[in-house]
Amino acid sequence: MNSNHEKLCPSPEWAQYLQQDVLPALTSQVELGPHMLEIGPGPGAATDWLRHKVSRLTVLEVDPVAAAKLSQTYQGSNVEVVVGDATQAAYPAGTFDSIGSFTMLHHVPTQALQNKIFAEAYRLLKPGGAFIASDSLASNDLHHFHVDDTYNPIEPSSALTRLQVAGFGQVTVIVDDILKFIARKPAGDAS
Ligand SMILES: C[S@@+](CC[C@H](N)C(=O)[O-])C[C@H]1O[C@@H](n2cnc3c(N)ncnc32)[C@H](O)[C@@H]1O
Repeated sequence: MNSNHEKLCPSPEWAQYLQQDVLPALTSQVELGPHMLEIGPGPGAATDWLRHKVSRLTVLEVDPVAAAKLSQTYQGSNVEVVVGDATQAAYPAGTFDSIGSFTMLHHVPTQALQNKIFAEAYRLLKPGGAFIASDSLASNDLHHFHVDDTYNPIEPSSALTRLQVAGFGQVTVIVDDILKFIARKPAGDAS
């Protein structure tokens, strides 16, 4: 993450935006179930809200420094912090009731790797589970914000097809000031 992220992502303003404007809109439409996986938690703005909505929250973060800070913050809580890459998560199929990813997909450098995350989310969900996500839309400002950092925003019109190719059955894509989607693994798919 570049220094712009180091200022924004841990800020109270960012947490307030995610927790008031983004997460309720997504979670109100799904059953999160007892065990949720959050991928790419960063400093934990979403983690801090989601952990009150589920019995167990596992967070998978590729950056060991960010993960170590989160581990310290959530020691002894219902949050388990794991260092790992969401393109190849070391969990058996059907481990989680729900999965969330917030403002992280544009940090995944290629479309192929983003698709691997979609496929992994599908694999890791229990049948009937939901993958909920939000991400920034491409813009000149966002591009400049990501100077010397990965910048690969999802093309919103591609989201539906890419999630369907990963296996998701019922997919809702919302495009307003950001991209949001809810993608469900069919209840009958026990793979
Ligand atoms: C911009 S931050 C977003 C943090 C938080 N979700 C939020 O919305 O405030 C993106 C995070 O995703 C993490 N990340 C990027 N690629 C990842 C991957 N393949 N697996 C797990 N985490 C990843 C980054 O290390 C970073 O902490």
